[in-house]
Order: sequence, then structure tokens, then C-alpha cells
Amino acid sequence: MRIIICGFGVVGQSLVKLFESRSEDLYAKYGLKPRVVGVFDSKGSAVDLSGIDLEKLVAAKKKFGSVKNYSKIKNNISGLNMIKNLDADVLVETTASNYKDAEPGMTHITTAMKKKMHVISVNKGPLALAFPSLLELAAYNQVMLKFSGTVGGGTPILDYAKGSLRGERITSFAGILNGTTNYILTNMANGLSFESALKDAKNKGYVEADESLDLDGLDAAAKLVILANWIMGMKVTMPDIKCTGIRNVTTDDIKNAAKKNCAIKLLASCNRELEVGPKEVSLDDPLCVNGTLNAIAFTSEHSGTQTIIGKGAGGMETASSILRDLLDIRKEIAKN
Ligand code: HSE
Repeated sequence: MRIIICGFGVVGQSLVKLFESRSEDLYAKYGLKPRVVGVFDSKGSAVDLSGIDLEKLVAAKKKFGSVKNYSKIKNNISGLNMIKNLDADVLVETTASNYKDAEPGMTHITTAMKKKMHVISVNKGPLALAFPSLLELAAYNQVMLKFSGTVGGGTPILDYAKGSLRGERITSFAGILNGTTNYILTNMANGLSFESALKDAKNKGYVEADESLDLDGLDAAAKLVILANWIMGMKVTMPDIKCTGIRNVTTDDIKNAAKKNCAIKLLASCNRELEVGPKEVSLDDPLCVNGTLNAIAFTSEHSGTQTIIGKGAGGMETASSILRDLLDIRKEIAKN
């Protein structure tokens, strides 16, 4: 399977390391032979139609800060021209989420789909701003658009609700979908001030480059949009979410919640309305996870409430979600 990777940060690099370390069993178990033919980052690109040497690629990125130094013979092809001109089966979009205009991911994805390439996106921006139209574009071009890593990272939250709960009618759900704010709130419950907890989260590398995405609830809202569209069949985008972050949560709020055997969590919920905001959650509720963990509880008409808990971010974890999507695409292609 010929693959183009857009963006070569932690997730992109984890993905190619995963391909390397699992190449034998991926082929033996699933018949999957990933061949990465093109990779680009913000500074340049690397191309090899016969398959990029992934170890050499990671080494070039580490040494020079870009994939453009992969080969001595430099190619000047831009990312967009790579998508337009290089023959590939799947585009893996890993550039940073942007909730203003969703670029550059949006153009990467739409260009690839118009070229009949399947797309795997872990970039939430395009889906948060244009989920309904992207799905239409995928259907029109008869390609698959997969995004299992956008919610829950490696924890298959979307697949669980869509696949394992098939036939059920999910009536509502609520989840802790942002690990960074959960880490901050957990530390505040342990006595730290908001400022100290934020500083600690930054030192640990959890906070997005634009901290507002975590702190003001935008990341959680984007995940809620994706869930609402994919799981509940709604046609909504970011402006439809009532969104409040955690900046105004005080230590008093946290202490008052503790008196009621509760903790304050940034919940993304779909009940009567779509909302992200700090809410009290009982310490006895399985949803009440701590640290950077994510958790989501789905309530269905017949099977009651089930809670899934797992890591919601991380390079290797998210790379494993891409692998999951790739295997689904491989299976569909094999069927046809
Ligand atoms: N900033 C996100 C989080 C990363 O803290 O959960 C994954 O989307």
C-alpha cells in the first residue's frame, strides 16, 4: 500500500517506527505491506516511489529538523504538489489541528480525496469545521475517510460506539476527552493552584503549542463535534458547541465538589445539547478518571451505560490508531 504522510512530528515519526518494527507480522497477519512513497513537513519533502528508507528518514529528521535532507539529491516538491502528482493509495494527515480555517490539513485532505486517494486524518481541524461536507466529498469520490485517532488517540472510542454498539440507539454520552485539562484538574484537586498545575503540565510536554486549545475547551469541543456527527448522525460543526474551558475553575470550586464526594472534570456531553464545560462528577463514577486519562460513558437504549477508559494522546498510541484505520482500508480494498 503506497502511503503519503503529511507532517512528520511525533505522530508521523511514531507511525514509521511502528511500520518498521511490525513489518513482518503486519504482512504475515494482515497482508499489509506499507510503502511510504512521500513525506513532507513544514520545511520540505522526501520522495521515493520504491519506498522511503524509514530509518534513514527518521535519522534525517532528527539531525536536520526536516525530512528534506533525507536524500543528497534534494527535491523541491511542495506538499500539495506531492499529493497532486505522486501516485499513492492512502494519505495520512498528521499536521497540527487548526480551528480557524483548518488549513493546511483541509486542502491536503480534499485534494487527496478528489484524486481518489483514501485518507486517514488524525488532524481534528478539518473534521471539526466541515465534517458533513468532508464525508460527502469522500462518498462522491468513492474513497474512505478514516479518523479513528481523532478522539481518544489509541483508545478506540469511535470504533466502539460505531462498531461494538451497532444496532443500539445511543441516547446520550459524556466524556473526559482532553488529557491536559484532566491532568491540571487532578493536580488542582491534589492542592496545586491553577498556575502551578499548568506549569507542571507544560514541563511534562502535555500542553498544546497553543494552550488555548486545551484550556478553553476547543480540543474537547472538536472531539465532541466528531462524535456527534459520526455516532449520533448529527450535522454539526464547532460553532454548534456551547464551550467553556477550565480557566475559571477555582480551588474553592474543587473543594466544594470534594465535600460532595465529587471532582470537577471538563466534560464533553451530548444530551439535550452539545456542551463542553467543567462539571462535578461523582468520585464513584467510572468516568471520574485522573491524570491524563480519557474516559467516555455511552448510554444506550437497551444495553445501558458503558464507560471506556484509556490514554487519549501520545505518539505511539495515535500511530496505532492510524494502523487500525489502515487495516480497515486494506480490508475494504481486498473485498473489492
Ligand atoms: N491536547 C490533547 C489532550 C491531545 O490533551 O488530550 C490529544 O488530542
